[in-house]
Amino acid sequence: MFNFTYCAPTKVVFGRDTVSQVGQLAAQCGAKKVLVHFGGKSAKASGLLDRVCRSLEESGVAYVTLGGVQPNPRLSKVLEGIDLGRREGVDFLLPVGGGSVIDSAKAIGYGLANEGDVWDFYEGTREPAGCLPLGAVLTIAAAGSEMSNSSVITKDEGMLKRGCTSELCRCRFAVMDPELTFTLPDYQTACGCVDINMHTMERYFHGQQVKNELTDAFSEALMRTVIHNARILRENPRDYDARAEIMWAGSLAHNDLLNCGIQGRGDWACHQLEHELGGMFDVAHGAGLAAVWGSWARYVYQADPSRFAGFALRVMGVEPGRDDQETALRGIEAYEAFLTEIGMPVNLPQLGLQVTDEQIDELVWKCSFMGKRTIGSFRVLDTEDMKAIYRMAR
Ligand code: NZQ
Ligand code: ZN
Repeated sequence: MFNFTYCAPTKVVFGRDTVSQVGQLAAQCGAKKVLVHFGGKSAKASGLLDRVCRSLEESGVAYVTLGGVQPNPRLSKVLEGIDLGRREGVDFLLPVGGGSVIDSAKAIGYGLANEGDVWDFYEGTREPAGCLPLGAVLTIAAAGSEMSNSSVITKDEGMLKRGCTSELCRCRFAVMDPELTFTLPDYQTACGCVDINMHTMERYFHGQQVKNELTDAFSEALMRTVIHNARILRENPRDYDARAEIMWAGSLAHNDLLNCGIQGRGDWACHQLEHELGGMFDVAHGAGLAAVWGSWARYVYQADPSRFAGFALRVMGVEPGRDDQETALRGIEAYEAFLTEIGMPVNLPQLGLQVTDEQIDELVWKCSFMGKRTIGSFRVLDTEDMKAIYRMAR
C-alpha cells in the first residue's frame, strides 16, 4: 500500500425529506446571500426548487436564482453566474441538480473568488487561489461532484471540454434524498450507473503491482452493488433502496476513498477519451464512457491480464477460463453485456455517432492536448493508441 492523505470534508445529509434541512445547513455555513443554481427543467417541474427556496426563507437566508445549466455545462452560463453573483453580493452557492449544475457552480465559485479569466483554471494556465463556499442538493447519482474536488466545463467556442481539480471546490455539504432521483429518465439513470462504475474502474485499473486488499475489496463491492441495483431499477425505477444504494455509491466512487493506497490518481484514460466526445458531440457523459470502455479494455488488458481476470471473477462472476487472458476477456464481454442490458451503447454507432477519420484526428488532437500529453496509467497511451481505441469503438 502506498502512502496517502485522505480528506473528505463534505457533510453528507442523506435520506428521505432531507431537503427541508438545506436552509439550516446554508445558515450554519455562514451564508447570507445564496445563488441557487439549477438546470433545464427538472428541478422546477418537480417542485424541488420551491422546496429549496422555502427552506432558505425559513432559515432567514436571502437568495437569487439562476437556472438553465445544460448537460456538459457551458462557460457562457458560468460567466453569467459570475456576473450575477458580483452584482448581487452572493457569498454562497447552492447548486440543485447533477454534475453539470454542481460543476457550473464550482466554476462560478472560482470566478467570484479570483480576478481574471476563469477559463485559465480549466486550461491549466493558472491555479485558483480560492473558491466561494458551496453546498449541493443532488438530483442524479452519477458524476460524484457533490463530494469530488473537480469540475468540468465546456467552452462554447470550439466546444472544448476541460476539467479543473482543486481541493478548494469541495462542497461543504451535500443533501442527498434518493427519492429526488425517482423522476430520472431510464437513460439518465443508466448513464449515472456507468459513470459511477467508471470512477471506480479508473482507480481499480491502476497498473501497479501493489497489494491493496481493502481498497480493492471496496471497489469490487461498489461495482457489484451498482450492477445489482441498476438491474433492479430497470424493473422498478421507484425502488427506494436501489436508488439509495446507487446514490451512496456515486459519492463513494468519487470522493477519493477508492484512491487510498494506490499510487497517483488512477488511470482516467476512458474519461479523457470521453470528455472529447462530450465536448465535440455533446453526448451524455455516462453513455460516452460506455461507448469507449470495451475498446479501451480490449486494447489495454494485456498490460496486466490478472487484474482484469480478478474483475471478471469477483465483480462479473464469470467462470474462469484456461488462463488469465481468457478470463479477462470473458469479464469484458460480461460487462458489455450488462451495459447493453441497461440500454447503454458499447460503441460509437450505438451512441449515435458515425465518426469520420478527420473527426478522430481532431478528437486525438484535443485529447492529447495538441500532442503534448499521454493518457492512462494501466497502460500509458500516446496519440497512436488513442487513435486506435477511437477506431476500435467506431
Ligand atoms: O437540466 P435538467 O432538466 O435538470 O435535466 C438533467 C439533465 O438533462 C437531468 N436530471 C437531473 N436530475 C434529474 C433529471 N431529470 C429528471 N429528474 C431528476 N431528478 O439529467 C440530465 C443530466 O444531468 P447532468 O447534471 O448533466 O448529469 P451528470 O450528473 O451525469 O453530470 C454530467 C457532467 O458531470 C461531469 C461530466 O463530464 C458532465 O459534464 N463530470 C463531473 C465530475 C466531477 N465534477 O467530479 C466527474 C465526472 O467524471 C464527470 O466528468
Ligand atoms: Zn465521470
